[in-house]
Amino acid sequence: MSSVLLRRALTGVVAALTALAVATPAAATGGSTIGSPGLGDPYFPLAGNGGYDVRHYALDLDYVRATNFLDGTAVITARATQNLTQFDLDLRGFEISSLRVDGAPARFSRDGQELIVSPRKMLRAGRTFTVRVDYAGTPTEVIDPDGSSEGWVPTEDGAFVVNEPQGSPGWYPANDNPRDKATFEFTVTVPKGITAIGNGKLISKRDHKDKTTWRWREDSPMAPYLATVTNGVFELRISKVGKIPLYHAVDPVEVPEGAFERLAAEAEVITFFAQLYGPYPFTSGGGVVDHAPEVGYALESQTKSQYDSTPGAGTVVHEISHQWFGNSVSLTVWPDIWLNEGFAAWSEWIYDEKHGGDTAQQSFEASYARPATSSFWNRPPANVGGPQFMFGSAVYDRGAMTLQALRVKIGDKAFFDLLRDWYAKNRNGNVTTADFVRLAEKHGRQQLDAFFQTWLYQPGKPTTW
Ligand code: ARG
Ligand code: ZN
Repeated sequence: MSSVLLRRALTGVVAALTALAVATPAAATGGSTIGSPGLGDPYFPLAGNGGYDVRHYALDLDYVRATNFLDGTAVITARATQNLTQFDLDLRGFEISSLRVDGAPARFSRDGQELIVSPRKMLRAGRTFTVRVDYAGTPTEVIDPDGSSEGWVPTEDGAFVVNEPQGSPGWYPANDNPRDKATFEFTVTVPKGITAIGNGKLISKRDHKDKTTWRWREDSPMAPYLATVTNGVFELRISKVGKIPLYHAVDPVEVPEGAFERLAAEAEVITFFAQLYGPYPFTSGGGVVDHAPEVGYALESQTKSQYDSTPGAGTVVHEISHQWFGNSVSLTVWPDIWLNEGFAAWSEWIYDEKHGGDTAQQSFEASYARPATSSFWNRPPANVGGPQFMFGSAVYDRGAMTLQALRVKIGDKAFFDLLRDWYAKNRNGNVTTADFVRLAEKHGRQQLDAFFQTWLYQPGKPTTW
């Protein structure tokens, strides 16, 4: 382990302990007034920060691809959850020209992705405050443990902006943890002829001299990793499914023809899952098809799925299902990633089943046919062994198999009620695997610890369950 890693690992332990310590307001305990530098996630201990809860991000960004220069102002509205003389934000790179808390200049320093802020006056627990950060520079791409590039990834004519799990601090100061959901607004200024697409609804588009300013707003709470402002040469088409506006954008230069037809399928997919799981979670939807080969993944960015190339039909189904499972019902810690990916993979199976394709049981069997000696079986979905395996096939396929096996075990009625209830109870919230097990036991009217132990946690190919 390098000294940097060692330092980070130790900080992670400290962060986890601090997070526990600050669970009770410092005022009551006489404890620390320093917000912890991380929230102690087992995979990303420094992601997110303690001591406050973000309510809203207002990001004002000016980007020029020719120089790859991003000039930003972030205004973050947050509520202190303890007395704070110091707290962190997560941000990588950039020069900071000014940092203000409630309008007053604040001292700050940098340590890796930690932007450490000391407001002039202590922020009392319960108080709402604003942090304004003026920053500029060339965004640094974030390389994930699995080797993918993310964050602000320059393309031929703009940038492809995706962040799962840790790209956000590469382009805006964040409390980068899925537990801290907030609303977002984006004001993005780009050269005329360039389209910038943020989450949520398009509020306005204004030309001034040789620039255009695009404003987007997402009014449902959103995990920071789901934020996007992908930009470039795009054709933007706006349609509707019911009352919900759908925004579809395709790079007409870099992407082969046919992408709009793929995106058009979203309307039916949204209707399908709304019937199956409950009402569509958000007030807008859509998708963006760009050409960003070094990213190498599609992402369910809230209300605007991001495709690094033209998606297959199954990928569209997958990303749309994440709007329910992943985006509205969010994980609490990253090792529970199967709650996102297993659900989305199973969603593809049930979509096929209900559209005259293979049944979910046939998909289960095809997946289960892997020989017991396959390394696939060594990484149980809720216990993959490290962040580099978070998006491995076991999380998706064995995660989906877990749900299908559960369906067979408790029966269709209980199973479909369970999924609807899971969504209804946890809409806009955060969940854990233990929460799911508890609810499954309630709907299934049986003890399911051994079942989930076998499917989610134990290495090896399940034989009885
Ligand atoms: N959630 C995305 C999907 O459903 C995958 C994100 C992969 N991220 C990564 N760093 N490999 O397909
Ligand atoms: Zn997925």
